[in-house]
Amino acid sequence: MRTKVLMVCLGNICRSPLAEGILKSKVNPDLVFVDSAGTGGYHIGEKPDPRSIAIARHYGLDISYQRCRKFVREDFDNFDIIYAMDKSNYENILRLADTSDKVKKLKLLLEEVNLETKEVPDPYYGGDKGFERVFQMISAACEAISARINTHEK
Ligand code: 4NP
Repeated sequence: MRTKVLMVCLGNICRSPLAEGILKSKVNPDLVFVDSAGTGGYHIGEKPDPRSIAIARHYGLDISYQRCRKFVREDFDNFDIIYAMDKSNYENILRLADTSDKVKKLKLLLEEVNLETKEVPDPYYGGDKGFERVFQMISAACEAISARINTHEK
């Protein structure tokens, strides 16, 4: 069975589309399904932010096909691991978890790596430099996740 991983941020146009694209680039699609969603519903149906598309393209990834969707309660049933980009996203998703099994599925993405912070900062109101930093943080976490998943651990 494929491991199903969901990346979640607020808007699902900046950070989680990058996380989806980066993790997809590091795993075998026969073994791992990756998707992303947002806790807020401001941009449903839209493409990722042009700055996310640009930084991904800079590193050889196409994320322009992705379309924004909102996180729904059923995602807890459909995914094995749910990664929140920051603590605010984490708390918003946690409120929808009504069993301990669901709570166990939820993690902060940066718990996977040893960086100076456990949160991927929201780059939406910042400049292009924020997107480079966010890309590198997410890449480091996805590298750690892929190393584990490719050896069949969750
Ligand atoms: P994201 O960034 O959560 O990384 O997608 C944001 C995108 C849009 C908004 C907030 C954060 N917004 O308020 O529209």
